[in-house]
Amino acid sequence: MADKPVIYVLNGPNLNLLGMREPEIYGSDTLDDIAGRLEDRAQELGADVEVRQSNHEGHLIDWIHEAEADEAKAILLNAAGFTHSSVALHDAILAVSVPVIEVHLSNPHAREPFRRKSLVGEASYGTISGFGALSYLLALDAAMQL
Ligand code: DQA
Repeated sequence: MADKPVIYVLNGPNLNLLGMREPEIYGSDTLDDIAGRLEDRAQELGADVEVRQSNHEGHLIDWIHEAEADEAKAILLNAAGFTHSSVALHDAILAVSVPVIEVHLSNPHAREPFRRKSLVGEASYGTISGFGALSYLLALDAAMQL
């Protein structure tokens, strides 16, 4: 039997603090809660998810390269604050053939002006934002239909 498709779910800085970090903006779910829901949904869809978090830009870049080497079906990327500043993440997304779906819990366009620019989004296949933890599940469903 063929291997199941793998979806990488990469999370950037401060997302390890989900649940206690500005819950009025990001909700009360922890990243582990979200990972659990993604694993359940992936199982229903016949896929595997690889959920990771780092506060370090280079780790996220290495994992994007790893997803390519691993022939991942897609990457869901919440680059958090790096979304708005990282040329290196933008370049890493362009360097791989794996489609990247940009994910955000909040809607950055409805917040401070500096969040309206997304270097990640400019290199990504598509973006899902503003639905809280549901953004990740919507992105997983979208990834499986690519
Ligand atoms: C975020 C939005 C970013 O602007 C912010 O820096 C984050 C979280 C979100 O998921 O809503 O850290 O990516």
